Amino acid sequence: MNKRPCIAVIGLGYVGYPLALGFGQHFETIGFDIDESRIAELSQQYDRTRETDRQIIEKAKLLGLSSDEKHIAKANIYIVTTSTPVTDKNKPDLTEVLNAARTVGRSVSAGDTVILESTVYPGVTEDIFAKEIEVISGLSAGADFFLGYSPERINPGDPFHKLQDIVKVVSATDQSTLDLMYSIYSRIVPEGIHKAESIETAELSKLVENTQRDINIAFINEMYQLALSLGLDFSKVLECARTKWNFIDFTPGLVGGHCVAVDPYYLIHTQEIRNTPSEITRSARQTNEQMVDFVASSFVKHLTRKGMPLTRSRVLILGASFKPNCPDTRNSKALRVIDELMSFGLKPEVLEPVADLSFYNGITWHKRLPAEEYDGILMLTPHTLMIESLRECSHSLLKPGGIFYSLDSTHEALFS
Ligand SMILES: NC(=O)c1ccc[n+]([C@@H]2O[C@H](COP(=O)([O-])OP(=O)(O)OC[C@H]3O[C@@H](n4cnc5c(N)ncnc54)[C@H](O)[C@@H]3O)[C@@H](O)[C@H]2O)c1
Repeated sequence: MNKRPCIAVIGLGYVGYPLALGFGQHFETIGFDIDESRIAELSQQYDRTRETDRQIIEKAKLLGLSSDEKHIAKANIYIVTTSTPVTDKNKPDLTEVLNAARTVGRSVSAGDTVILESTVYPGVTEDIFAKEIEVISGLSAGADFFLGYSPERINPGDPFHKLQDIVKVVSATDQSTLDLMYSIYSRIVPEGIHKAESIETAELSKLVENTQRDINIAFINEMYQLALSLGLDFSKVLECARTKWNFIDFTPGLVGGHCVAVDPYYLIHTQEIRNTPSEITRSARQTNEQMVDFVASSFVKHLTRKGMPLTRSRVLILGASFKPNCPDTRNSKALRVIDELMSFGLKPEVLEPVADLSFYNGITWHKRLPAEEYDGILMLTPHTLMIESLRECSHSLLKPGGIFYSLDSTHEALFS
């Protein structure tokens, strides 16, 4: 493509907005989202995901924002970053990706490039996404418009792994599209660009990365339960294991959100289609899902063993978003633990300084440390901000003889 790039980023969520800001520093860019409230907030420089700061926003001088589809028609590169959840049966739900493909289909012209960044299973970009664009536009992929895929690998809540810090994998159906992708992404990702062999290679690589993480955490969650049954402090077990050079360091935890807890289901779907073994992937998912019941029932057991009546015990939950330092509560296992505790008759209060819990019924939500004392405290999402304020807290939140429970015993020192 010899024209100056004009990029439309479609879907301005956790992935799309930082990407649009990155491109908006170098190329004319249109950030498009169907959610008008999101566009209104971003136009006021308010990003509810907290992934961007004002400095970066101000540098993106070539970025325009819109919820009106007609504004993307002038683009010659379309990048789709809409979400890819699962259905209630844990099957891939491609609704948002297909809707975005229809939007592209109504705007794309001959000679344009279309790139998918959403996490998908092998084959989706070429066989499902591009086909939908072809149907709507009447153009042919490979002949009229050109196709690429680049999986996003950002890590929300992590200040050290932003878009520019993570090597970007790019793939395309033809060499000149791959070269174009290399040239535009290398402007915004100084860490480096890796050219994949094919689109399916890149699609599968993303699922492999996140599923490997799910499997490793599942094993550690199993080992945590074994250590407890042996009466051992699991953090001390890990301390020993870490002294071996090739030990892979994971800690027990709840696996929620819409990446590590979702992408393995995309992989399982492909394994089913290809009729290849999937026991490890499935079993890890099951183990990690069961941690919700395990954490809730462990906490309840501790309370009842101390003779605390569940309906009258005052309990405080620390953190409710799906992971530390991130305001995202979608598919948060911490919220599922809270639901479980309520089903036991507890009326938990929740300290959550990062996420908005105003939508959540049946709990008392504290944004700051309450000036109260509790019979039980359960740490679920250890936000840095919260840990710091607990360290500086001048009064004890836990009643003498009260219960503190966390999957990570290193937090016990805060309440001893
Ligand atoms: N959030 C992460 O940590 C992360 C990391 C790496 C990869 N991913 C993957 O990136 C993709 C996007 O994830 P996300 O977390 O940014 O999702 P998100 O839900 O935060 O953002 C999606 C955005 O797309 C908008 N949208 C939906 N349909 C649209 C349409 N037809 N046209 C225009 N806008 C539309 C929504 O309003 C929303 O703002 C997913 O496939 C996800 O798996 C996410």
